[in-house]
Amino acid sequence: MDTNSNSKNNETGLLFIGHGSRLPYNKQVVTELAEKYSASQPEYPMEVGFMELVRPSIADAFNKLKETGVKRVIVTPVFLAHGKHTKKDIPTILGIEPSDEELNPDEQAPAEHHHCNHGHEHHHGHHHHHAPAEPVEFDGEIVYNEPIGADDGLVKVLHDRIDKYL
Ligand code: NI
Repeated sequence: MDTNSNSKNNETGLLFIGHGSRLPYNKQVVTELAEKYSASQPEYPMEVGFMELVRPSIADAFNKLKETGVKRVIVTPVFLAHGKHTKKDIPTILGIEPSDEELNPDEQAPAEHHHCNHGHEHHHGHHHHHAPAEPVEFDGEIVYNEPIGADDGLVKVLHDRIDKYL
């Protein structure tokens, strides 16, 4: 038995981040994934925040976690791949140094000319970002996870979707 685990549980919170959408589906899916995960780790406080277009915002969700007294927050973007949001916008909101050098040069456009390459309904040139001017304030540790990526678990999902038609 790890005798440190109990005290650690009280100090660690989980923040899941979704992109957000004007339609309800993105929020529903990201929230359901987070709740299903949290059901197996119920001792850790958990919140879900969204990059844009729907509430709660990332900052609001983070601050709600902070109110529980956590000293460490594990932040997991529920995004398939990295993009401007995961590389720049989310780290900025969290007060983590964005890693500009990891962005392609054409992604380093000023925020007001922001356009992501993920091709959904809100990227038609109008402003849709409501990131706070000031990052969240937190004295503790933020662990910023990688997005989901080409994970074998997702390959299983693809098999479930496709193979029945083969
Ligand atoms: Ni976007």
